[in-house]
Amino acid sequence: MKIDKNKRTKTSSGFHVSQHASINTDNPIPTPKAPAPDVLRVAYMELQVTDLAASREFYVDVLGLHVTDEDENEVYLRSSEEFIHHNLLLRKGPVAAVGAFSYRVRSPEDVDAAEAFYKEIGCRTERRKDGFVRGIGDSVRVEDPLGFPYEFFYDVEHVERLAWRYDLHVPGALVRLDHFNQVTPDVPRAARYMQDLGFRVTEEISDGETVFAAWMRRKPTVHDTAMTGGNGPRMHHVAFATHEKHNILAICDRLGALRRSDAIERGPGPHGVSNAFYLYLRDPDGHRVEIYTQDYWTGDPDNPVVSWDVHDNQRRDWWGTPVVPSWYTDASLVLDLDGNPKEVIERTDDSEMEVTIGADGFSYTRPDDEDMPDWKKGEFKLGN
Ligand SMILES: [Fe+2]
Repeated sequence: MKIDKNKRTKTSSGFHVSQHASINTDNPIPTPKAPAPDVLRVAYMELQVTDLAASREFYVDVLGLHVTDEDENEVYLRSSEEFIHHNLLLRKGPVAAVGAFSYRVRSPEDVDAAEAFYKEIGCRTERRKDGFVRGIGDSVRVEDPLGFPYEFFYDVEHVERLAWRYDLHVPGALVRLDHFNQVTPDVPRAARYMQDLGFRVTEEISDGETVFAAWMRRKPTVHDTAMTGGNGPRMHHVAFATHEKHNILAICDRLGALRRSDAIERGPGPHGVSNAFYLYLRDPDGHRVEIYTQDYWTGDPDNPVVSWDVHDNQRRDWWGTPVVPSWYTDASLVLDLDGNPKEVIERTDDSEMEVTIGADGFSYTRPDDEDMPDWKKGEFKLGN
């Protein structure tokens, strides 16, 4: 099949591809004149937890993350291939919430650029030359225009990359931090702002009018973060990568053996979006963690944007396994720069769960279906 660079092309896999995301907003956040910082990648999440011992047990003893540093209030954890101080900070606090979505930038000057970028938008910013947490130097934290606590840093303490320490690896080893997923009421507004911040959209779910979710990247994978439509600002999940699918199955086996299978919320299974294999877990506070592996390279400048129809029941799971309702509705609060939970704003656009309810997993249209309009024949499972 030949793909026309200038138009939306339907692929033989059932979704459309195009050169540019078709996401438009009539309510944009004004684009600052200050250049965006050069963001390298997702670096770490600061997670406030209510029972530090229970969370440490989950992330270290069950999932096998490595402890870089800890005391009675904080645990700093990293994945086996990481060489910066940490990918996850568990901090004891009064409510379960996210304290920071942190990105690494290319140079010390890019921290200045991030500060200028957000100041021009009118966001609250706080700069600390010695960093906000251990192992990280000069950083800026902002309450971004969507209400999320974002952090940008370059200076970091290097630690040993444990990739060669096979004696420490478990069968379900988490090798890298892969992405964040954020819940926000207005996905097109969020996508436009993230594009101003230098991110590129790789995939989206829409019905041609309403956008339900969008994935965006800096590093050359499907995403560093995704925007999921819903009441927000809230954190949908944080995702760690394994090398292969069997590592994810090993985590399921381990949870079963520990009689902890109730930590599994959804999966394991293959995504449609991203083509990755997935598993969603809930930690002792209910924070959602995804284990994710084997998405695809997106680093070419003309990498095609993939558009999924919201009624395609293989978009969220390529085998058509239904999505559990809690996956659509539940998410974690986020904190402002004073450590107080941000107010959650309700989504007014259609909800993905509502428009696909009764559809996920149940019906299929075939090319010879008599009672379907032509445009629905042989397409995919449908919600109505
Ligand atoms: Fe994800």
